[in-house]
Formats: sequence, C-alpha cells, structure tokens
Amino acid sequence: MMAVMHAAFDPLYGEAWSSSQLGATLTLPGCWGRLALLGNQSVGFSLCRAAGPEVELLLIAVSPQVRRNGVAGRLLMRVQEDALVRGASELFLEVREDNEPAKYLYNRAGFVQVGQRADYYTAKDGSRRAAITMRYSMEQLTG
Ligand SMILES: CC(C)(COP(=O)(O)OP(=O)(O)OC[C@H]1O[C@@H](n2cnc3c(N)ncnc32)[C@H](O)[C@@H]1OP(=O)(O)O)[C@@H](O)C(=O)NCCC(=O)NCCS
Repeated sequence: MMAVMHAAFDPLYGEAWSSSQLGATLTLPGCWGRLALLGNQSVGFSLCRAAGPEVELLLIAVSPQVRRNGVAGRLLMRVQEDALVRGASELFLEVREDNEPAKYLYNRAGFVQVGQRADYYTAKDGSRRAAITMRYSMEQLTG
C-alpha cells in the first residue's frame, strides 16, 4: 500500500499518509484496506472505516502508470459491497474540490455532494482548498 501511496499522491497537497499512520489505522477496529494487484504487483488500494451505520472511505489511490483502466472503479465497487456486507446504510468521503479525476470517479459510482468544508486542505505553497463531502446511500445498491 505504501508503494502506491508514494507514487499516487501529488506531494503539493500532503495527502499521502505515512506508514505509521496507515499501520495505526489498519489496527483500529472497524478499519480495513483492500489492495489491487496486477500479477504480483500492487497497483491500487482503498482504506475504509466503519462507524455505526456509516462507512467512510478514507483513501483510494492507483499508481499513475495503470490509471484509466478501471482499477479505482473496481476498488470502489468493492468498497460499496464491503459496506453492504457490514450492514452500513451510508458511505461518506471527502475530496479536495479541485481533484477532478476523483470527483468524476465518485460521481460515476453514484456519490452525490452533500456538503462543503472551506479551507479544509492546505497545500505546501500555503494555498487552501475546500473539501467536498460526498454521500452514497446503500439503498442505491440494494434497490
Ligand atoms: C482518482 C484515482 C484513484 C482514479 O484511479 P483510476 O484507476 O485511474 O480510475 P478508473 O480508471 O477506475 O476511472 C473510473 C472513472 O473515474 C473517472 N476518472 C478517472 N480518472 C480521470 C481523469 N484523469 N479525468 C477524468 N475522469 C477520470 C472517469 O469517470 C473514469 O471512468 P472512464 O474511464 O470510464 O471515463 C487516481 O487518479 C489516483 O490515484 N489519484 C491520486 C490519488 C487521489 O487523488 N485519490 C482520491 C482522494 S483519496
């Protein structure tokens, strides 16, 4: 997961987690990750946390060299299935307002914007970005 983490996130925004942050999160009850493999190489991952009836998608990332091949789409579908199996009623995530690939990905998967948090992200150059809060209702999956 850390190999993908280092390759995937733009250092400008400091969104990549350290191995100790990731390791600590994965040991918490209700947290889990999924790794996407191409052969025996890690090319993507997702990280989630369940809290009551909600699941939060904390991170999703795909290595730059395999993007636009549906890896994130499949990881996200698995997140939705995992949330359903855990009995969640809603999935939430936060995305930087100018992260267009991620916003397209989430919109395509059925997430809708439910909020905006101003100045949530601070880039290395000091500029600020809002976070868009998105929600997916599990009813969309179960009909
Ligand atoms: C966002 C990210 C995970 C997408 O991964 P990916 O494997 O390339 O995505 P997919 O191939 O599954 O694309 C699924 C859909 O997302 C959208 N999408 C993905 N990348 C896009 C791009 N660069 N521009 C526009 N739409 C994009 C499209 O709707 C796409 O469907 P399509 O290819 O049929 O048009 C990847 O760009 C990434 O790792 N970015 C850096 C980390 C990050 O910002 N993560 C999100 C916040 S935690």
